[in-house]
Amino acid sequence: MHILGIETSCDETSAAVLRNGHVASNIISSQLIHKAYGGVVPELASREHERLIVSVVDAAVNEANIQKNDLDVIAATAGPGLIGAVMVGLCFAQGLAYALRKTFVPVNHIEAHVFSGFIQEDPGHEPPKERFISLTVSGGHTMLCIVHEDLTYGVIGKTIDDAAGEAFDKTGKMLGLDYPAGPVIDGLAKEGDPKFHEFPRALTSQSRTSKSYRDNFDFSFSGLKTSVLHYIGKHEPAFIERHLPDIAASIQDAIVGVLVEKTVAAACKYNIKAVSVSGGVSANSGLRQKMEEACSKRGIRVYIPRAVYSTDNAAMIATLANLKLSRGLATPNNYDIAPFASFAAPGPHSA
Ligand code: KG4
Ligand code: ZN
Repeated sequence: MHILGIETSCDETSAAVLRNGHVASNIISSQLIHKAYGGVVPELASREHERLIVSVVDAAVNEANIQKNDLDVIAATAGPGLIGAVMVGLCFAQGLAYALRKTFVPVNHIEAHVFSGFIQEDPGHEPPKERFISLTVSGGHTMLCIVHEDLTYGVIGKTIDDAAGEAFDKTGKMLGLDYPAGPVIDGLAKEGDPKFHEFPRALTSQSRTSKSYRDNFDFSFSGLKTSVLHYIGKHEPAFIERHLPDIAASIQDAIVGVLVEKTVAAACKYNIKAVSVSGGVSANSGLRQKMEEACSKRGIRVYIPRAVYSTDNAAMIATLANLKLSRGLATPNNYDIAPFASFAAPGPHSA
């Protein structure tokens, strides 16, 4: 059984092949064109996907050592994402599936992140078997949910302003770092002192303004952004330059502190013994380490995919298609599906 996954929701053109559920190839081409603009330019992203999609899909099929005709299923991201970008991968997948008479499966990109703990890159991989808390942290989303054994899930918290990835990218931009700043801050933070400056951690036990942080699983990162802006304004450029690693480490510590506190609090409140962290920000080394430390103290298992499966990738798209097909939960051959930009996740009632 071979499944081709295609992902083009933002600035990564990716295609992957699963062979009997295991990753046989996962090609990711990151668009560098956006660096000059300090953020993703939607029209340029669509054009880049269009330029790259054929060669990326060919590379994934070749690396898996098969022909396109050996594919059984072709799955693609249908949203959420930049509409023009999603459209390139979705239409390509539909066209290919139709022409080759293969099964076409549309996939929700955020759900694919939520279930990325199921990506099987080696035969020994153990996917979650129990109920788990999922923290999904990307450039566009920050969301905590409870995922049940039957793969249904309910959102118990989300950001009320910026996503965690945006908090990294925007504060990094203020410090003059390249886009995306998340990995750059991660690198700098390794050399810095996380206690150098205490930046605000909204809606947590540290926040002085919020009395009702308990059982509040929403996030807010806009105050951190403002605080970093004021901090930079109050200091000489030479001071900022000299202490860049310390400031990066302090920003990272504030973001990571919020993410870990809320995730662990949710696991404790709902008496859930497993946590999965996914989305681009889960590539962050500080988040991985702090989450593992906090969870191991409480006997909570942690699932975090390898960094290459944390950021946008097609292996997670093919994996979710496979999971849903194997449990009869997919809607195959839905050629009417329109690409969508935003995502109305199921509310806490399903938690
Ligand atoms: O999931 P993703 O690749 O794309 C979206 O669906 O948004 O996430 C991209 C986000 C960016 O904000 C990027 O700065 C962040 O993930 N990111 C990181 C790291 N690697 C990627 N943030 C912090 N530390 C990292 N190592
Ligand atoms: Zn993503």
